[in-house]
Amino acid sequence: MEIPQILTGKAAIVTGGVRGIGRAISEAFAKAGADLILTTTRDKSACGEVLDHLRSFGGRVELLKLNVSDKTEVAAQLPEAVTAFGGVDILVNNAGITRDGLMLRMSEQDWDEVLAVDLKSAFNTVQAVLPFMSRKRSGSIINISSVVGLTGNAGQCNYAAAKAGLIGMSKSLAREMGPRGIRTNCIAPGFICTDMTAKLPEQMAQDWKNRVALRRLGTPEDVAGVALFLASDLSAYVNGEVIGCTGCM
Ligand code: NAI
Repeated sequence: MEIPQILTGKAAIVTGGVRGIGRAISEAFAKAGADLILTTTRDKSACGEVLDHLRSFGGRVELLKLNVSDKTEVAAQLPEAVTAFGGVDILVNNAGITRDGLMLRMSEQDWDEVLAVDLKSAFNTVQAVLPFMSRKRSGSIINISSVVGLTGNAGQCNYAAAKAGLIGMSKSLAREMGPRGIRTNCIAPGFICTDMTAKLPEQMAQDWKNRVALRRLGTPEDVAGVALFLASDLSAYVNGEVIGCTGCM
């Protein structure tokens, strides 16, 4: 798809930006002219190909090896990277994990890990970037929630709680920081084909597909299009919203 240069001169952070939905968002932003600070939990050397591809669009791309659920790590690395970029305009909290299981048998570890990576990480990154956005009196924060944060889903109490928490946090932040020109919105994707969903049984994917009006599962690029809109000035008056990307379930 042809992407217009609507992020020229902007710098964006995308957590988990080298894989799946995060990678598609990074690519859309790079094509739109943005500079990128990406995070991964993998070895940086394993990401060379993705980085070369993203850099081929002409912008600056830096990769941080960072566990976004660790406040100390985030506070130590993110502000330094942002300072080196001369500020930041867009933050996408995309990193996420699932540890599915029924509540009756869910381990405390599976609860805590999902809440840490899918919810607390946003607290960590937002606190790291807000001083920069606040000084500029502008910014767009995009939190990747999920449709299950709105509807719930059997077997995903931990994940749904984290994703619903992200929505509550975003709506509150939108009110707190709106007066400073900082917008915060969520995207609530449905079933998107990535490594995260590849491990689910084939029958489950088929059942989801049958429930989608468009009769297809989503792609990372479908979500990236919404993120691009929210990151750019095209959405200048959109704040505190949750935009679904489900094909109409
Ligand atoms: P994925 O598993 O392909 O990618 C997840 C990314 O998060 C990876 O880049 C991984 O390195 C990163 N990550 C995981 N733990 C991390 C940590 N502690 N610190 C830093 N990065 C970490 O999954 P996918 O599908 O691309 O998911 C991206 C986001 O979209 C997640 O927040 C997910 O919950 C959300 N989502 C996905 C849906 C789907 O159907 N695939 C549906 C709704 C929401």
